[in-house]
Parts: sequence; C-alpha cells; structure tokens
Amino acid sequence: MTQRKGIILAGGAGTRLYPVTMGVSKQLLPVYDKPMIYYPLSVLMLAGIREIAVITTPQDRDQFIRALGDGSQWGLSLSFIEQPSPDGLAQAYLLADAFLDGAPSAMVLGDNIFFGHGLPEVLAAADARTSGGTVFGYRVADPERYGVVDCDSQGQVRAIVEKPAHPPSPFAVTGLYFLDGDAPARARAVTPSARGELEITDLLDSYLKDGLLTVEQMGRGFAWLDTGTHASLLDAGNFVRTLSERQGQQVGCPEEIAFAAGWITADQLRARAATVGRNGYGAYLLRLLDG
Ligand code: G1P
Repeated sequence: MTQRKGIILAGGAGTRLYPVTMGVSKQLLPVYDKPMIYYPLSVLMLAGIREIAVITTPQDRDQFIRALGDGSQWGLSLSFIEQPSPDGLAQAYLLADAFLDGAPSAMVLGDNIFFGHGLPEVLAAADARTSGGTVFGYRVADPERYGVVDCDSQGQVRAIVEKPAHPPSPFAVTGLYFLDGDAPARARAVTPSARGELEITDLLDSYLKDGLLTVEQMGRGFAWLDTGTHASLLDAGNFVRTLSERQGQQVGCPEEIAFAAGWITADQLRARAATVGRNGYGAYLLRLLDG
C-alpha cells in the first residue's frame, strides 16, 4: 500500500480574514502560543503522515518557507506549492497531482483546529480505508457557513451541500479530507460553481455517487474550531490557553508528536528548544526531554 501523503491548504478562502494585501499570512498568525498552521500540521502528523505539501499563494510562499523550513526539525519532508489564484478547495488536488504521484492523501485546511480525546484513533480509522474517501461531520450552530451533510431518514448520506441557505442538517463537513489516489483525476472532472470555484463538495459528491464516501461523525467531545472571523480567532486562542494551562500539556505541538513517534531524537528536540528560545513553548519542549 502506498503511504498516504499530506496537503495543507494555506491559500484560497483562508486568506479572506487577512488578505494578501495586508502582508501577513493568516495561517501564520499565532493561536495563543504558536502559529495557526501548527494545529493542522499536527493533525496530519497524528495520522502518521510525514510527507506533506503546503499550498500557499505565490505572495505568501516565502513566509511559509521561513516559518516551516524543510520540516526536518519535526522529522518531516515539507514541500511548497503555489496556488496562483484561489479557485476552490478541489483545485488543491490538481496543483498537488505531481506531488501525490498516485498516493492517497489527507488534506487539511490551514486554518482548521481539531482537538479531542481519541483523535489519533479517528484518524487511524480514516487512514485505514485505502479506497474511497472519509470526511467528518460536526454539529455546529451555523451550518450555512459550511459544506453541510444531507441525510435521508435512515441516516444515509444523500448529498453534501455547499453553504446552503436552508441547511438540511446541523452537521458541517470539517476541513479535513481523506481521499484515495483518484482524487486528482476526479478533481479534473469538477466544473466551477456559481461562485466560480472548484468546490470540494462537488469532488466529494463524485465519491458519494460511486458509493465511496464515508462520513464519520465527530462527536460533541471534539472541538473543531473556526478562525474565520476576527472574534473566532481570538476565541480559538483562548480555548488553547485554557486547556494547555489547566493541563500543563500542549495542544498542537509538532515537536511533541515527532518526539513521541520517534521521528526526532532527544538531541534534535533539545536543538529545537534552543531555537525556539526562552519562552513557555521552549520550556515545554525542554520538559518533554525529562519524560
Ligand atoms: C470550506 C469548504 C466547506 C467546509 C469548510 C470547512 O469553506 O468549502 O465545505 O465546510 O471549508 O472549514 P470555505 O473555507 O470556502 O468557507
């Protein structure tokens, strides 16, 4: 079986809040104590994925390279792909076609934050499905802002509808997509929607029509946080602060995941802590060395 590869989409609609013209990349802004992109990166790492492409706008590419490097500090191999214009989430599979080279993938949006007990098991189950796709439904108060799951009375998924004015259910589809190696070919058949984008929901629909899409429920014990408004970005930071200060444990720490997985040595972790410097994050990395 070909090893699953990762994609982090850090361009496109995610740049609406702080547009390119403001000169900062939203996904590199801090969510409490670390750049936002560390959180989706951590999710891919928890899924055991080490080869990851980061898709950015051409203007933001250098900022991402400076922030993430080649990934070796986390035992990863990172590459960077430019998205010339934000033409929808499904476009990511066209841009990443050569990188994927037929491999199955997990794509996560660069501004999506996931937290919950049992997340590694949920990810492992999705990874284990080698054909078709897996996406995650999550109950939200404002489904009209998202792709929404439409089920029949038996709970069978009929469709996934993008930003419906009248949501058929309260279950949004999160920005984490496990798809098989056919995703680029299927994405080529997607045509632009009314808003001019290659919609991820149309790509998912192609899997659904062939009976190849699994919609897993992420239950109420999970947090799927949005950073789509200035207020929700601040809320996400407060959420991370509350949890990590209460438990004395990090949320979304790539070094911790890499060290626990044996992808980096104690010496590498020590070197990384020195690079991060004298702050709470660096001190946490040093504490990991003491077990
Ligand atoms: C995108 C997808 C939508 C999904 C959401 C998750 O929305 O199009 O289906 O539910 O991400 O964050 P957008 O970022 O374009 O608003």
